Amino acid sequence: MGKKNGKTIGIFSLKGGVGKTIFTINLAGIYTTMERKVLIMDLDLTGGNIALAVNRPFEKTIYNFVDDYNNNRFHAFNEYVTHYNEFIDILPSPKDPRQASKIDSKYLEMAIEKAQYDYDVILIDTHHNLDETNLVLLDAVEEILFVMNNDPMDVKNMKNLLAIFKDLEKTNYKILLYNARDPLKNYFTLFDIKSILKANIDYDISKSFYVKNIDSYVMNGEIVTLQPKAPTVFNKDYTTFMKIGVDLLKSGDNNE
Ligand SMILES: Nc1ncnc2c1ncn2[C@@H]1O[C@H](COP(=O)(O)OP(=O)(O)OP(=O)(O)O)[C@@H](O)[C@H]1O
Ligand SMILES: [Mg+2]
Repeated sequence: MGKKNGKTIGIFSLKGGVGKTIFTINLAGIYTTMERKVLIMDLDLTGGNIALAVNRPFEKTIYNFVDDYNNNRFHAFNEYVTHYNEFIDILPSPKDPRQASKIDSKYLEMAIEKAQYDYDVILIDTHHNLDETNLVLLDAVEEILFVMNNDPMDVKNMKNLLAIFKDLEKTNYKILLYNARDPLKNYFTLFDIKSILKANIDYDISKSFYVKNIDSYVMNGEIVTLQPKAPTVFNKDYTTFMKIGVDLLKSGDNNE
């Protein structure tokens, strides 16, 4: 390491509870199988819970990074991260949501930049509000991954956002239709969604990735995609996860 090589990927949604966090953790699992070092930055500053979701106790958070950086106490980035396994580290969101308001967005860019020296991939989990933090993050990351469900509100919001992105000539995004959050939601066909959005759906995680006992995975701090049987049990969706992982590393030119 030591070179600024890390690929920065922001996972966004326009509605809460679409499955961003579960997806992000599982994508990190995929990168473990590819032996790529991943940092999950939990930048859902007021509601983040990645470290808890994977059952890892932690002391320091993004708040401590910002506070130390601001007060010239910063030494090394790895003092702030929590280890999950040999390949996955986590930079947790603030323990106290009140600390979130004290985080100046410009320090988030700083944290992302520091992480690029230590990791192959930086996955950034976010809050769904398009607030100041997320606007900064949308500009700061190399790749944007929008997660949406099969849901009329999501489709309408996404259409609106795509129009704004078109205006801004922003093209570094991919859309993921995540059907695993609620397999009963199937109002639109894939064709419908593409026609309404007048855009491509880049990836489609199917309802087969719906994991009935997802809560016990969370309680035990386990990652579904890291289970030995995952490639066979989730066959097509596992392949999609791999494709997403590989594509996101390839897109742009940073990691080539
Ligand atoms: N593959 C899955 N199988 C079963 N349940 C799932 C799956 N993925 C997500 N869920 C469930 O959907 C709910 C929302 O998931 P998650 O917390 O990942 O969404 P989010 O977009 O991060 O939400 P928020 O906007 O609140 O951060 C959770 O209760 C989670 O357990
Ligand atoms: Mg979340």
